[in-house]
Amino acid sequence: MSALRAVEIIEKKRDGKRLSAEEIAFFVDGFTRGEIPDYQMSAFLMAVLLRGMDPRETTELTMAMVRSGERLDLSEFGRVVDKHSTGGVGDKTTLIVAPLVAACGLPVGKMSGRGLGFSGGTLDKLESIPGYRVQLTTAEFLSQLRQIGIVVAGQTKDLAPADGAMYALRDVTGTVPSIPLIASSVMSKKIAGGAHAVVLDVKVGRGAFMKDLPSARRLARLMVQIGKLASVEVVAELTDMDQPLGRAVGNALEVAEAIATLRGEGPADLVALTIAAGSEMLLVGERARAARQARGMIERAIADRTGLAKFRELVAAQGGDARCVDDTQRFPRAKRIREIRAPRAGYVADLAADEIGRASVRLGAGREKKGDPIDHATGIVLHAKVGARVAKGDVLAEVHSDDRPDDDEAFALAAKAFRLSPRRVRPRRLMLGRVA
Ligand code: URA
Repeated sequence: MSALRAVEIIEKKRDGKRLSAEEIAFFVDGFTRGEIPDYQMSAFLMAVLLRGMDPRETTELTMAMVRSGERLDLSEFGRVVDKHSTGGVGDKTTLIVAPLVAACGLPVGKMSGRGLGFSGGTLDKLESIPGYRVQLTTAEFLSQLRQIGIVVAGQTKDLAPADGAMYALRDVTGTVPSIPLIASSVMSKKIAGGAHAVVLDVKVGRGAFMKDLPSARRLARLMVQIGKLASVEVVAELTDMDQPLGRAVGNALEVAEAIATLRGEGPADLVALTIAAGSEMLLVGERARAARQARGMIERAIADRTGLAKFRELVAAQGGDARCVDDTQRFPRAKRIREIRAPRAGYVADLAADEIGRASVRLGAGREKKGDPIDHATGIVLHAKVGARVAKGDVLAEVHSDDRPDDDEAFALAAKAFRLSPRRVRPRRLMLGRVA
């Protein structure tokens, strides 16, 4: 075989040809070792975005990213199930599902990410609990999983490092929204993290990477296929992200809502998603045999508060102030709360997740670029969602702000996210499909 050259691999993909396993491995390995520079990786990523990859190439890319670092061996815990959401606005499901599932006896060792753009991140949310430590070593991660059966932490640096470096380039070269690149990025982390099965929540709508159902279904199918080729069982739920999930958007506000949900006081859409994702995890984790049994287990863990107790245990184990779990007044609180009121009577016909997400970033709850600091107290609490009937002057949302220069703009953006109709509007469907 003649020696491989990075430029020829880029040209081959640029011209729409399929790459071999050796070519993909050569490129990712060379990049990981620092022998292939960022500019060639950027060109490669753009070629993939424009020309695509088939499932076999995407699996090769995924496995090359897995091989770029260590792969956790969690076999001592039996069957380990991970959960991953492709990200959205107000998505605090992990904070609820992980303790519920762990309370049902299925170990959850979850590596989560930070928010970027208007998509929130579980780590940022957890850091609104004073003292909560997200950066654990692999040894700490394993020891906590053995002791209490739950960990929610950041990805260790040694896990799929090629993904971290490639994502940083994608973020600044316009190459994030590519189905094979998203699929390989997500799956490489899940496989390197030692999961035997993965429950994916593929979000669809204006607040998600995938704006329409056919693209979300393609992404979900591809991840299921990668899982099959890599011997990891993958089940994907397709769920609505056209309006935010639940009522709270913003870090401490979302953790408080997650705690309320664990107490049995959550908003209907969040509860529905929690039960769906939690029962899928129990099924693929072989803790339940049938969907009804799995749902019953999750519902019981909410009703008897064993999920809430597990969350308290998690917070304490990772150095957080566990008193916050019983007294959410201890969370950081914004200086000012302003209300958005309905200008006329009607039905909420539209509540744009992307606009609410952008407004919350302006309030300081998210970051425009990697490394920006986060204000954990700020955000938006929605009082009316699509389908709700409102009278003139009713509160549509509360805007929690901390006296930043962009506060007025954020308020206007959040107000613009609502569209009222004089005619009755149906609530949006949350669960849009399933791929397994
Ligand atoms: N989430 C990831 O982990 N990677 C992507 O590329 C997109 C969403």
